Amino acid sequence: MQYQSQAVAKPYFIAAIGLFLGQIIFGLIMGLQYIVGDFLFPAIPFNVARMVHTNLLIVWLLFGFMGASYFLVPEESERELYSPKLALVLFWIFLVAGVLTIVGYLAVPYATLAEITGNDLLPTMGREFLEMPTITKVGIVIVCLGFLFNIGMTILMGRKTVISMILILGLVGLAVFFLFSFYNPHNLVLDKLFWWWVVHLWVEGVWELILGAILAFILIKVTGVDREVIEKWLYVVIAMVLISGLLGTGHHYYWIGAPEYWQWIGSVFSALEPVPFFMMTVFAFTMVNRRRRQHPNRAATLWALGCSVMAFLGAGVWGFLHTLSPVNYYTHGSQLTAAHGHMAFYGAYAMIVLAIISYAMPILNGRKEANSHRSQVIEMWGFWLMTVSMVLITLALTGAGIVQVWLQRYSESPQSFMVVQDQVTLFYWFREAAGVSFLIGLLCYIASFFVGKNDAEATVPGLAD
Ligand code: HEM
Ligand code: HEM
Ligand SMILES: [Fe+2]
Repeated sequence: MQYQSQAVAKPYFIAAIGLFLGQIIFGLIMGLQYIVGDFLFPAIPFNVARMVHTNLLIVWLLFGFMGASYFLVPEESERELYSPKLALVLFWIFLVAGVLTIVGYLAVPYATLAEITGNDLLPTMGREFLEMPTITKVGIVIVCLGFLFNIGMTILMGRKTVISMILILGLVGLAVFFLFSFYNPHNLVLDKLFWWWVVHLWVEGVWELILGAILAFILIKVTGVDREVIEKWLYVVIAMVLISGLLGTGHHYYWIGAPEYWQWIGSVFSALEPVPFFMMTVFAFTMVNRRRRQHPNRAATLWALGCSVMAFLGAGVWGFLHTLSPVNYYTHGSQLTAAHGHMAFYGAYAMIVLAIISYAMPILNGRKEANSHRSQVIEMWGFWLMTVSMVLITLALTGAGIVQVWLQRYSESPQSFMVVQDQVTLFYWFREAAGVSFLIGLLCYIASFFVGKNDAEATVPGLAD
């Protein structure tokens, strides 16, 4: 570790992985409920499991982004973190608030949770991804402010690099757009309109800046390619993200009662959104091909490359599939949406967090640059199991989605939702099986941090050079 204060990243990474495991378990519960309707009912109803699954996703990714920032900003700024203590205090606040919220979801009915957390004072609950009680949202804002202050001061007092500038821009954007979760107008059109300012402008806007910055950081470290080259790529990628992604929000305004011009704006600009994702793939592979050294942490390189490919497939290809308004007219809110949501979130954001953890954790654990060969082999098993399983989950949901759209919306004699759902059960079995192998992959990833400690020297035979 170059700077002592980078060590605060470690608890963030451990919490991220722990919550990720929880997310997957609830995904599997829901996957089974799709087939066996009353599985675990009434203890864990589907809507509660769904809330837990998606909120855990958001929270563990935020832990991951914060951990990544605490790890990379000192190195970029060439100085210690402004306040490691503050980072640790915020960690505990965030973890306790997050866990209490999940316990609240599981322990009491949602309406009761709303009541006891004072939702009627400032109603913000009841919207997908933003289900958490208002006080949790306030907690998140406090944690974000403290975090931004800490990271911002470190950057201000140290070396300023393109990577840290883009990272902080993304993080500030993340915090600013989250504020729209407090705006809850009575008019349903306005409500939906601004809801997307959090959901879309996060994943197809500011989070992409965070993704680009972390990816660039890892690539510099594992390839030894000149910073200037990487920065030039980063500028173009980020410009394309903003040009396409901001107005691309229009692809969510087709059917919510917004003016008709959004059909055009949404279709045209969101059709450009795959471009920056494709550029990131080319960028990652070009840098690795031009590398000046073979970094002993091959698992981290694999994660970085895999992330760029899967993000392009999940966000770029599966996003484009249903983004033009004449197509979206039929596919809106179907299993195709879920197929895209899964692969995009996994490919872009889960994988970049797993990549930085893979790169940073050996260093945080006191190894020189990488885990032992044995440990990396198990980690790469984790990579392939999770990634291939996610491809299979996506294909299963895509199959279900195509049949669903056909029978329910396109055919001469459309059938009702539940009648159609009964006919696609086979796809759901397939999804559940792939989900189990995803879980095994995640367990391999976790196990890799515990095995091969004794032969942990950085020099992996045959890889060192
Ligand atoms: C990493 C980036 C991305 C992530 C994490 C992501 C995730 C998601 C998720 C979770 C949803 C479902 C939202 C809901 O609950 O209704 C969604 C919807 C959608 N996404 Fe993405 N997305 C990404 C990028 C893209 C891109 C680049 C495109 C277009 C090329 C796109 C096109 C769409 C469209 C059209 C919908 C609406 C689907 C519908 O009408 O049901 N997404 N996305
Ligand atoms: C591995 C096993 C997994 C299973 C069985 C699973 C299952 C499910 C199910 C059944 C839903 C609810 C869909 C609905 O409302 O009808 C869901 C939603 C969701 N899951 Fe998963 N999931 C898994 C893993 C993941 C992973 C790894 C991610 C992201 C990294 C993820 C992200 C999401 C998102 C974003 C939604 C909301 C999608 C939308 O609104 O369209 N899931 N999942
Ligand atoms: Fe979007």
